[in-house]
Amino acid sequence: MRRKIVVGNWKMNKTVAESTELASAVVAALGSDCSACEAGIAPTYPALDAVGRTIKGSEVLLVAQNCHYEDDGAFTGEVSTGMLNALGCSYVIIGHSERRQYFGETDATVNLRIKKVLAAGMKAILCVGETLEERESGAFEAVVSTQVTGGLQGVVDISDIVIAYEPVWAIGTGRTASSEQAQEVHKIIRNKVAELYGAPAADAVRIQYGGSVKPSNAAELFAMPDIDGGLIGGAALKAEDFAAIVKAAC
Ligand code: PGA
Repeated sequence: MRRKIVVGNWKMNKTVAESTELASAVVAALGSDCSACEAGIAPTYPALDAVGRTIKGSEVLLVAQNCHYEDDGAFTGEVSTGMLNALGCSYVIIGHSERRQYFGETDATVNLRIKKVLAAGMKAILCVGETLEERESGAFEAVVSTQVTGGLQGVVDISDIVIAYEPVWAIGTGRTASSEQAQEVHKIIRNKVAELYGAPAADAVRIQYGGSVKPSNAAELFAMPDIDGGLIGGAALKAEDFAAIVKAAC
């Protein structure tokens, strides 16, 4: 039985003070109801330290939104896995479609980051997903399979990898993939993992869905056989909504 995982991706939202306020509200709203699944929050880099202190002692995990693939040096504006590890991050989100779309991330750079996260002893959330054009042309299966294969190139053990399927056309648009559409792609991803790593690894790997998940559609999505939780954007900025989504996974 796979343990579901729900992560709130706060993206470029909230000051440090607002972030700690939201983190406290999330911990309070979840109470002790979330032990059946994993729940994490990913604030901005400047807020990681303060949010980490705020959620300490709770079951909520600290998650980073990205990292660089070098240890240190002249990489202005970047943050290393060592820095994130020292702050107590459990997971790092890698290859989010906004990184791919706006900041030139490719499967090759995603792959470097994934390996670096694992080498630092943290876990990675590998994001994949097709654009609207790719969905409409029917290319989504090939696109997602290539992203999974490319992102995991040279990764021998995937027990510390979570995959997030996030159709780009469903992110921040209010347009959620239907539970059947999402399930279809989750199954494709699991089959791909089976091909690459064998059936036991495929059976164990958790695949989150992301893209306009809300309290009203979370339970239906999470009830699908290959959907193991969610990566939540907009709805994660409201503690009550995020807690309701986590509870739908527990
Ligand atoms: P959304 O974002 O829930 O606002 O659609 C999801 C994501 O980008 O992780």
